[in-house]
Formats: sequence, C-alpha cells, structure tokens
Amino acid sequence: MGEHSRYNVSGDEAKILKNKLGIADQKILEDLETLLLKDTYAHFLTLLQKGNLKFNTKLIFEIHKYFLGILYAWAGKIRTVEISKDDMLFCASSQIKKSLQDFNRLLKNNLPISQNNRKVISKKLSLIHCEFNAIHPFREGNGRTIRLFLDLIAVDFGYGLIDYGKTTKMNYIKACVAGMQKDYSKMQKILFKGLARGANS
Ligand SMILES: Nc1ncnc2c1ncn2[C@@H]1O[C@H](COP(=O)(O)OP(=O)(O)OP(=O)(O)O)[C@@H](O)[C@H]1O
Ligand SMILES: [Mg+2]
Repeated sequence: MGEHSRYNVSGDEAKILKNKLGIADQKILEDLETLLLKDTYAHFLTLLQKGNLKFNTKLIFEIHKYFLGILYAWAGKIRTVEISKDDMLFCASSQIKKSLQDFNRLLKNNLPISQNNRKVISKKLSLIHCEFNAIHPFREGNGRTIRLFLDLIAVDFGYGLIDYGKTTKMNYIKACVAGMQKDYSKMQKILFKGLARGANS
C-alpha cells in the first residue's frame, strides 16, 4: 500500500528517511522496502508453520526489526519523535512505553480462539489494529508491520492473508481515523471482507 503524503514529524522535514545504505532515491528505497517486506512474510510464515510464534507485542517488535533493520537504525525501537498524519496526532513519544503495556494486555485478552467465527475474529483483529495504530510506536512502517502481524494470526486460524483489496485506500484510512476514537466498526467490516478461508499466499 503506497502513501499519499509523508508524515509530519517534529524537527524532521526530510522527505527521504536517512538510511544505513545511504539510498537517496525515494523510489529505490520504496522498492527495497517492498522486497524486504516480502522476505519478512516468508520468514515469519515459516516460523508460524514450525509453531515457533507467540502473538505478543515482543513479536511485533521482532517483525519490525527483521523487516527494516538492514535499512534503519530505529528498526524495532520505540520512536523518539512526535508523529501526526492528516491532523491526527499519534501517542506522545513519552507515553508509548506505558501504552504498549496496556496494548499487550488488550492483545492477550483479544487473541482469537478456535471457537471464534469470522465475525468475532474480525472484531478482535480490528481492535488490535486500531489500538496499535493509535500508539504508532515506530518511526515508520507501523501499517505494514501490524498488517503482517494480523496476517500471521489469520493464517494461524486457517484463513488466508487478509485481502485489503476488497476496500479502497480511502476507506481503510477512514477506518483508521475512526479507530483513533475507539470506533472499530469500519475496520471490522474491512477485515471481515478481507478474511477468506485457506487462501494463504
Ligand atoms: N489519518 C490517519 N489517521 C490514523 N491512522 C492513519 C491515518 N493515515 C494513515 N493511518 C495509519 O497509519 C499507517 C501508516 O503508518 P506508517 O507510515 O508508519 O506505516 P507504513 O507501513 O509505512 O504504512 P502504509 O504501508 O500503510 O503506508 C496506515 O497503514 C494506517 O494504518
Ligand atoms: Mg509509511
């Protein structure tokens, strides 16, 4: 999923993120991130098949580190800058650590169980998606990381990777905005439509 605009970050108006490889071309950087994301999917889907994953906040941080660690020093680390998007201010950097503790509890209490049907699973995953998004713990890559994490849960429960192509980017963003006010219904609809049995990869 591409971005319409870059983030507003306090004290950092750079268009291209400073990276370890010294890449100064936005397109090359985006293409590389796309490749890295594919590799990250392959890596964690393999771990999932081997039964080696626990769905907790630690795993989300490991995914982010694996995904972007080759490029950015801040991969897998809590951001130290304030971030807003379309006038939406995400969690204050000073509050992220505490918010993640609350999030980890929420995650534990809302992980799907085998008896849950598609409706219940989409409800639980929408809560996880929206609450994680409101915290936005990373400097960049929050969307891709939480979508990958939710994909792993979906696959674990016999679904395919969640298909966001059944909605529009605009509706998805609207669902994220509503989620910031704890209205998860729009995201739930998107995830419900995106969940399909056994269509993995
Ligand atoms: N106006 C908004 N209000 C709330 N959340 C938003 C808004 N716009 C985007 N988002 C959320 O923030 C995410 C983008 O975060 P970030 O740029 O850190 O991650 P990303 O992996 O680069 O995202 P993406 O691949 O979706 O562009 C989106 O995927 C969406 O979940
Ligand atoms: Mg982004």
